[in-house]
Amino acid sequence: MNHSWVEVDLGVLVENLRLLQARLGGQAALMPVLKANAYGHGALDVGRRAQEHGSNWFVTAHLQEALGLKPAVDGARILVMGVVPPSAVETLVAQDIIPIITSEEHAVALNAEAGAHGLKLPVHVKLDTGMGRLGFTWLEADAVLPRVCALPNLDIQGVCSHFAAVDPEDPERAAPQLERFRHFRALLERQLDRRLFAHIASSRAFLHVPDGLFDAVRIGILLYGYGAGAFQRELPVRPALQWKTRVIQVKSVPADFPVGYYSTWRSSQPTDIATIALGYDDGYLRALSNKGHVLIRGARRPVVGRVSMNWITVDCGPESGVRVGDEVVLIGRQGGEEVWADELAGQCGTIAYEILTCIHPHLERRYLG
Ligand SMILES: Cc1ncc(COP(=O)(O)O)c(C=O)c1O
Repeated sequence: MNHSWVEVDLGVLVENLRLLQARLGGQAALMPVLKANAYGHGALDVGRRAQEHGSNWFVTAHLQEALGLKPAVDGARILVMGVVPPSAVETLVAQDIIPIITSEEHAVALNAEAGAHGLKLPVHVKLDTGMGRLGFTWLEADAVLPRVCALPNLDIQGVCSHFAAVDPEDPERAAPQLERFRHFRALLERQLDRRLFAHIASSRAFLHVPDGLFDAVRIGILLYGYGAGAFQRELPVRPALQWKTRVIQVKSVPADFPVGYYSTWRSSQPTDIATIALGYDDGYLRALSNKGHVLIRGARRPVVGRVSMNWITVDCGPESGVRVGDEVVLIGRQGGEEVWADELAGQCGTIAYEILTCIHPHLERRYLG
């Protein structure tokens, strides 16, 4: 018996993809971001379905993810946004997986390895235009990029960057990064005397920085149905992932009954406490202790007491009728009620991305749609 499982409605994902493609209107390519197991949804199934609906570029964080994904999306190109080691050069070329180059040292090492195998390695140049994470910083790029462009075994095909801040209240925050990106893209194109495939926008920039689309957008969270914010009416993406389990014990307790480690919750009246076999080991964050809600028998029920490693406890109210075996929705919809990852994120001071990617990858994924 599965303690808990994840249901992914691929039909909903396809609808989200279509909405996003329609909004892009052919202005730029849409590259689904499938890192972190497609934000918990399952990279292979999401990738396969997206490819059937026109996606021919995918994005991962790590080489390992790209290698796992490749057989499912054969024929598509995969861009790895992390740092790949030089030892991977032959594999990259053989599998049509495109790495980014992030520093001169990295570029030189990849160039040497490609040369040693008589290969020319397609790469995208990653510019750090203000994120301070990966890539050539805008401070060094003027001096360094001409040398990188001269490396004979690298085939520089693209240029990319990532916004640190896209603030709908303050659109100007993205402007310096956009400006630097334009500048260094132009510099690279002059040096190489060719047009490059340029991409900087992820979901928020796609919505809020219309000048930032270039040749492609790397879309993650919107594809998974979150993050549309003020655009929700015109871009009605929907969450595709639900997380479910079943009640394993119900006890009727008197008033002032202690629940969970250190008795952080006590019943204020006689009530039914349902126990569920899932905890922070499965990715149900401990920060949801005494805060989260689950759905049982179509009603919202508060998580009471501390979330422990493998079990949580829920206050179902007096004479609730809740029984062992009842389905519990941790993320999703039941009856007229809904609990989605952004609600849980708000309750524990994080973002929907973390709620989704923390769901343990080994939990069974069931695909619908
Ligand atoms: C480099 C890069 N590109 C694109 C994305 C996708 O972002 P989003 O899910 O906000 O669309 C991410 C997400 O973390 C990222 O790190």
